[in-house]
Amino acid sequence: MSKLKMASFFAGVGGIDAGFEKTGHFKTIYANEVDAYPAETFEKNFNLRVDVRDIAELTGEDVPDADIFLAGFPCQAFSVAGYRRGFEDEKGRGVLFFDLERLIKEKNPEILFLENVKNLVGHDGGNTFRVILQELEACGYYVKYAVLNAKDYGNIPQNRERTYIVGFKNEEMYHSFDFPKPVPLTKTIRDIADFENLVNDKYYYTDGKYKGDIYEKLSAEMTDPDTVYQWRRHYVRKNMSNVFPTLTANMGTGGHNVPLILTKTGIRKITPHEAFSVQGFPEDFKLPKSQVDSRLYKQAENSVCVTVVERIAEEVFKAYQTIHKSQNTAII
Ligand SMILES: C[S@@+](CC[C@H](N)C(=O)[O-])C[C@H]1O[C@@H](n2cnc3c(N)ncnc32)[C@H](O)[C@@H]1O
Repeated sequence: MSKLKMASFFAGVGGIDAGFEKTGHFKTIYANEVDAYPAETFEKNFNLRVDVRDIAELTGEDVPDADIFLAGFPCQAFSVAGYRRGFEDEKGRGVLFFDLERLIKEKNPEILFLENVKNLVGHDGGNTFRVILQELEACGYYVKYAVLNAKDYGNIPQNRERTYIVGFKNEEMYHSFDFPKPVPLTKTIRDIADFENLVNDKYYYTDGKYKGDIYEKLSAEMTDPDTVYQWRRHYVRKNMSNVFPTLTANMGTGGHNVPLILTKTGIRKITPHEAFSVQGFPEDFKLPKSQVDSRLYKQAENSVCVTVVERIAEEVFKAYQTIHKSQNTAII
């Protein structure tokens, strides 16, 4: 069977694409992403030129026919950490969903996969989410959603809850689809970050390197090599469940929230490569050497937990196969 074709919107570095492609059943044939930096990272890892136009400029003619649309649409407008304004976001970000909807209507793909922050479901007393589901249903989709945590569904030691929405044109396909079941967390933070070997000097905190008493505070508080810490402006926060906290948006810009670990070689931030591993990206995922760390941290945080997406994608494919097999049988 040939692979199902995917068109990817708000594609970032391609975390959703990577999850789907890992199953071996899907292939991204078109990607749109307005920011040239994640687009460059995307292009390093997928054999595809990213369309870097604003989604508002696209029409159905710009997008090739695809079986499935992917979209981790920007979450700022819906995020608890964001403005809590939903569709009304003054920077116009909330309304990007409607650009996506316009293209869905024009192209009518068989399957949709959308991802967003956990708070999308409860935003504005549930109104924002209700509108999204109603709009998708009005486009002719049967829709299921779930809020899944990476540590419970992706075997990745990160506490990251996200809303996943899957839509099907075919009602039987919708009925045969279920979100994956939880899996035991067997990976530890040691499978993600290097606690043994030296990494580049720039990631370490050492005496006198930074202004103020940050190093003193970190070395006094960071005594447990089996968990993760964060520097929260004036104090050190310890993660009590020995997993990485949700990688957060200002990790890149201020650097405050980059997870910190106590390794054999000293106290340090995780590296951008490790931040991608916290999102379940494969070891061989390539990061452009020309981009500064803050950009790469931001791209990691903006992305998705690849292994959770991969497990959902397996279920999507099973649902697709059930229907297409029975259709083949009917023809024979
Ligand atoms: C939450 S991130 C999605 C990241 C992606 N799922 C990944 O794995 O990297 C949202 C992305 O939408 C992009 N974006 C924001 N506004 C856009 C627009 N008007 N047109 C196209 N892309 C846009 C942002 O640059 C950002 O990379």
